[in-house]
Amino acid sequence: MATTDRTAVSATRGEVPEAFDEVADRYDLMVALNPGYHAHLRHSARALVAGLVPGLGSRVVDLGCGSGASTRALVDELNRAGVRAEVLGVDGSSGMLAQAATKSWPSWVRFEQGRAEALEEVCADAGFQPLDGVFAAYLLRNVPDRDALLRSLHDLLRPGGTLVVHEYSVAGRPVAEAVWTAVCRGVVVPLGWLTSRRTRLYHYLWRSVMDMDPVETVMRRMVDAGFEDVRTRSVRGWQNGIVHTFHGRRPA
Ligand SMILES: C[S@@+](CC[C@H](N)C(=O)[O-])C[C@H]1O[C@@H](n2cnc3c(N)ncnc32)[C@H](O)[C@@H]1O
Repeated sequence: MATTDRTAVSATRGEVPEAFDEVADRYDLMVALNPGYHAHLRHSARALVAGLVPGLGSRVVDLGCGSGASTRALVDELNRAGVRAEVLGVDGSSGMLAQAATKSWPSWVRFEQGRAEALEEVCADAGFQPLDGVFAAYLLRNVPDRDALLRSLHDLLRPGGTLVVHEYSVAGRPVAEAVWTAVCRGVVVPLGWLTSRRTRLYHYLWRSVMDMDPVETVMRRMVDAGFEDVRTRSVRGWQNGIVHTFHGRRPA
């Protein structure tokens, strides 16, 4: 079994859920200090809900749901659009799920611990198949084999089902890279230290975003995995050009 070196300066991709355990009780505070975080999640959740058929009782997975910020965005957008759904939040971090469990949720929302790479088993065990939608907010960057994950999400979706990935991407955009680096050095890492006395995950955050695929590569990966109607849009605010919504649909 892989062990986590808690003294390392930065986490590695494979151990990200364990690294989130260390900061789980401070995560909501960190994102509350990030202007636009919740509004941007709702913006991406809206793109997912727009692909669901109202009245049919859709099954939606929030993959990498963490402490429930993205789940809340999904719930709000489903309610706003009047779409009937069941939502399953899945995350590899028990600490982040414990935070989600402290919140109040409608009866049609539940949570399971599991790795994104094992989503098929998690959904089978939970009797949650086939899927009408998958929302993956700040998850794809952390998964070692992105192509394999996208292929598995394509296969888990019913024909016509929608995937929305909400993710950072700055590669090939010098201004976005410079803004991201300045914000991490000047705000994110110091705030991480102040709120949790830890910086390992926040160093990883900077590095992993710098190493993330360019927008065009994410789109190509989605097309190669079998998705159609692949499109992207960036969010507003200082994260414009840094955080993006990627939409794809499994062909009907
Ligand atoms: C930045 S948080 C985002 C949480 C939530 N989606 C939000 O928008 O606030 C990323 C989450 O993905 C989870 N995660 C990262 N890699 C994962 C993997 N391979 N399988 C399952 N969860 C993973 C982490 O545990 C963490 O809770």
